[in-house]
Amino acid sequence: MTKTKKVKRDASKPFNDLPILPPKIELETVAVLKQLANSALALGELNGMAKTLPNPLILLNAVILQEAGASSEIENIITTQDHLYQALNSSLTADPATKEVLGYREALLGGFNFIKEKEFISINAIVEIQALLEKNSAGLRKLPGTTLTNTSTGKVIYMPPDNHSRILELMKNLEDYLNIDNDDISPLIKLAVQHCQFESIHPFYDGNGRTGRIINILYLILKGYLDLPILYLSRFIIAHKADYYRLLHEVWKDNAWEEWIIFILKGIEVTAKDTQQQILSINVLFRKLEDKIKSTNAKGYNKELLELLFEQPYSKVDYVSKRLNVSRLTATKYLQNLVQLGILELKPVWKENLYINKDLLQILKA
Ligand SMILES: Nc1ncnc2c1ncn2[C@@H]1O[C@H](COP(=O)(O)OP(=O)(O)OP(=O)(O)O)[C@@H](O)[C@H]1O
Ligand SMILES: [Mg+2]
Repeated sequence: MTKTKKVKRDASKPFNDLPILPPKIELETVAVLKQLANSALALGELNGMAKTLPNPLILLNAVILQEAGASSEIENIITTQDHLYQALNSSLTADPATKEVLGYREALLGGFNFIKEKEFISINAIVEIQALLEKNSAGLRKLPGTTLTNTSTGKVIYMPPDNHSRILELMKNLEDYLNIDNDDISPLIKLAVQHCQFESIHPFYDGNGRTGRIINILYLILKGYLDLPILYLSRFIIAHKADYYRLLHEVWKDNAWEEWIIFILKGIEVTAKDTQQQILSINVLFRKLEDKIKSTNAKGYNKELLELLFEQPYSKVDYVSKRLNVSRLTATKYLQNLVQLGILELKPVWKENLYINKDLLQILKA
């Protein structure tokens, strides 16, 4: 095994000299391969376990909302999970912070549908994701002046390339790296590499962090590790933001790929294991509620209704009536029955009644 050789670069002058991919050093070091085995295992187990859920959409909605909420948190947008879920299920207009988060959801789902259909991640798809996210069509940067700074000292620590044609060239190179696998490197290692490269190209005026984190999830789906975007990897990145920034910096400064790759791989392992626990808890809760309804009012048990209440922890009469094809009156009766059993909590929000699956919310927020 070749030892990782670090090549010093001057990070204060990276104008247009960001190297194209692949990195010209050995990426598969012993330490990387050790971590890779654990990450791949945890991810495989997660994907299998997701199939044991009564309905995988349960996790999908929850993870998307968490991903959206937490991802925007890096930008210090304060949006509680409650606001998010409510905004999704209420016809009331959301506040600006919630709207931003819902934009993230739209961007992630838009990207997901794109790769499901096309089976590759194109520059155009990335531009589209960022446009959905930021709600503007500025596209790839054309003007110079974008810098990455240390937020506490204000010191410029990195200057991404700012020549438009160079940005295009680097994006094309990234697109090839994402889609063409003739290098025999594990896609999980490539995920770490492409994420660093994307943030280093920093192709947009804003939203590079969030767009990059969406690409990460889409890449796992593209490479067959996940069927649905159910890995909430941003949580790890956000929780370890200082390390995340420091390690990016070390790649720019010292070509220190090994530490960066291990960090991202570790994130995959930790997050996959957390999500596995969530799935176990969701399954236990589902069965518990099922038993509770059956033992008190077997006739009132409706599997589809219970599944809906897991897909939408904040539900309402409309949803139930449409999904089960019953009248609003019947839907209200169903929901009220579950309130009486202590399974749902009724929360009036202005003119609407939201019915909350509170035990599920506890699991999803954990
Ligand atoms: N000081 C820094 N050191 C390392 N990376 C940085 C630094 N500042 C920014 N970045 C990178 O740029 C991203 C932020 O870029 P940008 O503001 O365009 O995206 P965003 O989506 O608005 O922000 P965020 O990632 O904070 O949600 C970070 O997620 C990180 O990848
Ligand atoms: Mg920003």
